[in-house]
Amino acid sequence: MRNHAQMVIELSHLYANLEHIKKNNSAEIIAMVKADAYGHGALIIVEAMLRFGIKHFGVATLAEAINLRQHFNLLPFEIFVFSETCLEEALLHKDYVQNKITPVIHSLVDLQYYLASSDLKSRPMVLKFNTGMNRLGIDYQDVSQVIEILKKLNRLNVFHLMSHFASSYYRLKEGDKSHIQMERFKQLIKNFQDAGISIEQTSIANSGAIEQSFGENCSHIRPGLMMYGPYSVVDSAKNWKLHNISRFEVKVLNKISVKRGTPVGYGGHIVPEDGEILLLPIGYGDGISTYIKGHKLFINSDFEFQVLGRVNMDLTMLFTAKNCKIKREEWIRIWDHEIGSLNQLADNLQTIPYALTCGLSARIPKNYVLE
Ligand SMILES: Cc1ncc(COP(=O)(O)O)c(C=O)c1O
Repeated sequence: MRNHAQMVIELSHLYANLEHIKKNNSAEIIAMVKADAYGHGALIIVEAMLRFGIKHFGVATLAEAINLRQHFNLLPFEIFVFSETCLEEALLHKDYVQNKITPVIHSLVDLQYYLASSDLKSRPMVLKFNTGMNRLGIDYQDVSQVIEILKKLNRLNVFHLMSHFASSYYRLKEGDKSHIQMERFKQLIKNFQDAGISIEQTSIANSGAIEQSFGENCSHIRPGLMMYGPYSVVDSAKNWKLHNISRFEVKVLNKISVKRGTPVGYGGHIVPEDGEILLLPIGYGDGISTYIKGHKLFINSDFEFQVLGRVNMDLTMLFTAKNCKIKREEWIRIWDHEIGSLNQLADNLQTIPYALTCGLSARIPKNYVLE
């Protein structure tokens, strides 16, 4: 039993965030729940989302998809595998069929595997094109080749055509990278339609785009981060309305007064000024990166500390030169449900909110609250 550190997940905030997204969009939601629902625990989050009425989910790996299907076997919903599709492994094709999982085809090679597989025939064809991300996706310039292949096989229907924005977290400007990607995507849709190949569904928008009401003329949107609370677009802070669904809190293990010049911890890190140290019962064994050494962070959203010395496996020291009201055995919040709290922490630690919530290890218990 662990009672000095926990991630508390408020499902009411998740529902409010989903409601907000739904109210502002006519497109259907494909909820991105990869990496254990961005670190919040996929099974409970997906259960809550199913209750909310979400019917489409996105994960990164076939294993993540199988896990969800096996858990919620009886419920009707669709799961897309976005990156580690394993289509080169013919033996795994049956897993797609048996578990009613849909692979996202993101290369010409994978398209060949898909079309040659008698197992995968029954799974809908989902094609992802690279319109400028230059990571995964069939090159948009290869569209004629794809059309030719499909026409030869008389496959005149694409279930879902998608692409992915690379820079939608920047404020949109006419003619920028997102606009160029959008134009290429529209052209792709037209190319298929002109060739007599019908497309049932389309999607391109991730959180940054959805925040800016961009790419929503597709049948679907694919929010990830925003469902969990943080904003994507750098200057969204003032107008953001979504709460973080999680808070990460720990109980102070010890509080020590120190004099300037005192060596503390491994290697005897020298305390820069007279002050106080809070010893927290979390370290890299809990997913706290050693790279946060020396960074400043705000405890309970307002009290500034510096991460002192090296993060240990089980312990981290925070230093302040001020008189600190926080006491030994008090619960303190590393991040909380307040709007922007995860974004601010990520900025201070020079990382991104995704990495913070995904980063906590299995040693941190997750407690779910539904008020
Ligand atoms: C293909 C795809 N669509 C949508 C998303 C959701 O992105 P975000 O979490 O920025 O909303 C991701 C996440 O990386 C993704 O890989």
